[in-house]
Amino acid sequence: MWPFNKPRASVGKKWLNGATDYHTHILPGVDDGIEDMKQAVEVLKAYERWGVRAVWLTPHVMEDCPNATSALRERFYDLTAAYQAVCGPNPVSLHLGAEYMLDACFSERLEAGDLLTVADSRHLLVETSYFSPPLMFDKLLKRISQKGYTVLLAHPERYRYMEMSDYENLRNRGVRMQLDVTSLAGEFGVESQRRACILLKKGFYDLAGSDLHSLSVFKEWINAAADKATCQLLQSLSLHKKESI
Ligand SMILES: [Fe+2]
Repeated sequence: MWPFNKPRASVGKKWLNGATDYHTHILPGVDDGIEDMKQAVEVLKAYERWGVRAVWLTPHVMEDCPNATSALRERFYDLTAAYQAVCGPNPVSLHLGAEYMLDACFSERLEAGDLLTVADSRHLLVETSYFSPPLMFDKLLKRISQKGYTVLLAHPERYRYMEMSDYENLRNRGVRMQLDVTSLAGEFGVESQRRACILLKKGFYDLAGSDLHSLSVFKEWINAAADKATCQLLQSLSLHKKESI
């Protein structure tokens, strides 16, 4: 299936050289991602070996996982200190953001101005259920815009309730989209893979990220996600550009 041929073992790692990962669950012990500080440092050391330039730590924030911003900041400082203790001045630059589910918890944080942004001071990384849109989605998007933020929609290829016209409408309304690179290799099934290929060809993605929850799972998928043809397309994303979106 386009754009996949048989992956070559080293391509994924070459592709990561110089990249910024805008979506990870490496901040330890705060969600369903990396569990402890030691594992988190191991992931960062792997990123270092692959030549990754910068990493955004984007833990889940949702009603079922209502991480407080202050607690995330404290955990971030702990991770930065632990990483520096092992590796010296950080070869991989670390940044704190969050991945917000568009639920009641998000609406409260939005009204309180209690949000962490990604990539710059105005982009909010958000996700929705895979199967149904958020309550009053349209109204919520307007409110986010009124507050001066731009939506960066995480892994839009996973949202089964969206038709192609929905993606187009969102793009026309200024919503930015972030590809989960492992979707290209089929980590989330054939339908998400198909949608990821279409959205990538249409130029709908502004950024990419790994959505890394586990180093071993990521290693399984990354080479397959980055064969030569895909590399060329991915390099057109901001992933490899020094400037922000
Ligand atoms: Fe995520």
